[in-house]
Amino acid sequence: MPRQSKGGVINCDLGMSKPFDIELERLTGRPSYSQVFGGVAAGQRGTFFLETFGCQMNDHDSEKVAGLLLSRGYQQVQTPEAASLILYNTCSIREKAAQKVFSRLGEYREKQSEGKVIGVLGCVAQQEGEDIFKRAPWVSLVCGSASYRKLPEMLAQLEAGNQRVTGLDTDTDETFETEVTRRDNPWRAYLTIIEGCDKACSYCVVPFTRGPERSRASDSILREVRQLAVLGYSEVQLLGQTVNSYADPTPRRMRFSELLQAVADVQGIRRVRFTTSHPSDFTPDIVEAIERQPKICDHVHLPVQSGSTRVLRAMQRTYSREEYVEKIAMMRRANRPIAITTDIIVGFPGETESDFEETLSLLDEVRYDSLFSFKYSPRPNTPSLAMSDSISEEEKSRRLAVLQDRQREIQAAKNAELAGHTFEVLVSGKSRRENQWSGYTTSHRMINFASQERELLGTYVQVRVTGAGPNSLAGEHAV
Ligand code: SAH
Ligand code: SF4
Ligand code: F3S
Repeated sequence: MPRQSKGGVINCDLGMSKPFDIELERLTGRPSYSQVFGGVAAGQRGTFFLETFGCQMNDHDSEKVAGLLLSRGYQQVQTPEAASLILYNTCSIREKAAQKVFSRLGEYREKQSEGKVIGVLGCVAQQEGEDIFKRAPWVSLVCGSASYRKLPEMLAQLEAGNQRVTGLDTDTDETFETEVTRRDNPWRAYLTIIEGCDKACSYCVVPFTRGPERSRASDSILREVRQLAVLGYSEVQLLGQTVNSYADPTPRRMRFSELLQAVADVQGIRRVRFTTSHPSDFTPDIVEAIERQPKICDHVHLPVQSGSTRVLRAMQRTYSREEYVEKIAMMRRANRPIAITTDIIVGFPGETESDFEETLSLLDEVRYDSLFSFKYSPRPNTPSLAMSDSISEEEKSRRLAVLQDRQREIQAAKNAELAGHTFEVLVSGKSRRENQWSGYTTSHRMINFASQERELLGTYVQVRVTGAGPNSLAGEHAV
């Protein structure tokens, strides 16, 4: 589930540290930490710098960690130099992502001697566990995503003189409920509804790094959505590695499609997004919910990974090309257009030229609105590690480039067809250039547009498309 790409076709795992200033002011009306958190003064406990790699689930976990630390009297700062606590929320999905963490940690080797505490959170923490202390002995905290609620206790142990502290359980559902979440977007709120993964795709670390599947109680999800609406959020994005495998643990036993509907029914909510959907659990009632309720966004991210049934079998993806294409046909029959995006891996062990051709032909058949593509990367503990990583790096790069070229052409043609259409846009960006704004359509297309209005951020406006490139649209405010 990669985050929105910069170039449209590729990639995630870009390091990012973001300010979390907006939410607190929105909660309090004044930027004073002590008034919110019962007399704990900002920075009383120290300062923290938090950098996040990986998918939206990690982004959202960081929002929770930041909220938790702020509520315990820590103050967030924007540089590691200014921090007494340096935290990395890490991603392990491909080798490069994991390597980046260790090279970044290397940069902070000296910081420990300055008295700073360095902690590794997230998927690399979970996967490598105590080995991180061996590779980077200057690290004193290693904590996986299921243990974040224990962070204050773990930090207290460090303050009490412990040299090394870990939190590595994977099967708790304590992750869902957080007292304070410091959301970094004032209009769109992430909400994790299902943690972990019970699928066993042969290339994937997620079942190891995030543990078994656990769904959050529907009443607790809806309670949070109502609070979010009161705080002024109008768009909610439900998150999970297999979000549509959601299984309500309460006696209500809400289906995923019913939950979508119930979230959309909350007063003040105008858009409901969800990601990532697994093809095997993508059932007709989800499409029916999209048809019935316009607030449920007309965009489905449905990773296919390969267009070859033979490769899909080797990947243990639990569906064939034909079954996947039937899911696409189901969406194409809907009474309103649904944008479809995907993820693809090239160079999986044993992928032949003809398997790869099948992936290209799938692109032509589905005509995705956008896709994320990756070179296969062998990962620790995964079943495909035992298969020989037979495709050379050079050949993987070639296949990736061919695939991306093909997709660029498809996107350019599809976007050109949108010229003259008018879409509702949630305005989320303001350009330095005067009168230029940007935002997303319900189908998650990025659009840059001109408007003479003085303030549009956070509002919904109608935008007419006047031009298109492969990765974004240009338009003008239609009044
Ligand atoms: N849960 C989601 C995907 C999570 S990971 C799903 O099932 O679709 C996001 C994407 O990273 C995957 O869809 C896949 O395309 C890619 N990916 C995962 N493991 C990989 C690996 N070992 N090598 C290359 N790409 C990988
Ligand atoms: Fe990984 Fe497969 Fe689970 Fe997605 S469904 S997180 S690719 S194991
Ligand atoms: Fe997400 Fe990377 Fe972990 S994609 S679940 S942060 S391995």
